[in-house]
Amino acid sequence: MYIFKNSFFTLILVYFLNLQFAATTNIKKEFAYGLNVYKKGNCMGCHSWHGKGGGGYGAGVSLRTMELSLEDIVYVIKCGRPGTGMPYFYKKSYKDERCYDTKFEDYNNSNRPLSSKKFLSIKQIEAVSFLIKELFQGKELTKEYCEFFFNEGSKVCLNIKN
Ligand code: HEC
Repeated sequence: MYIFKNSFFTLILVYFLNLQFAATTNIKKEFAYGLNVYKKGNCMGCHSWHGKGGGGYGAGVSLRTMELSLEDIVYVIKCGRPGTGMPYFYKKSYKDERCYDTKFEDYNNSNRPLSSKKFLSIKQIEAVSFLIKELFQGKELTKEYCEFFFNEGSKVCLNIKN
């Protein structure tokens, strides 16, 4: 009986620890690559680390309140938005591949698509799109995400309640 009780307790403990483990590693495991891309592309330069926008672009560039499908998000990152501050991140855009059915020669100097400083591969674009869709769109900023972006225990995240 003692052995049974003991192993039952161990089982519960293991189960509990596993849950804890899952809760704390999930976001890191699933979105680590996407977050790297977010940082590499300097998306936070215009959309801020929390995705709500800010800086010179204001809250109008929030990735939390937008209503795009995953496919559309991928497209916007690949092609940018000519005539706005959103650059294109795929090297072949407007050269080898048409975007919005256009190429560079279809633009004049005032509305030419802006090139990003660093280009991203399709795989990278898909990863960061997935992150935006799952962690930003329609969601509140969480402490979990904050500590994922910075570091666990980071001062920036102290005042985030949820
Ligand atoms: C130089 C500034 C800048 C950078 C860097 C930048 N963006 Fe943007 N982004 C914008 C602006 C400005 C808009 C709004 C465009 C518009 O008016 O339609 C935008 C729009 C978007 C949209 C569409 C939002 C909507 O509501 O339709 C997505 C998605 C997006 N950006 C993702 C990204 C990602 C991911 C990165 C990094 C890989 C990134 N952006 C980097 C400026 C930037």
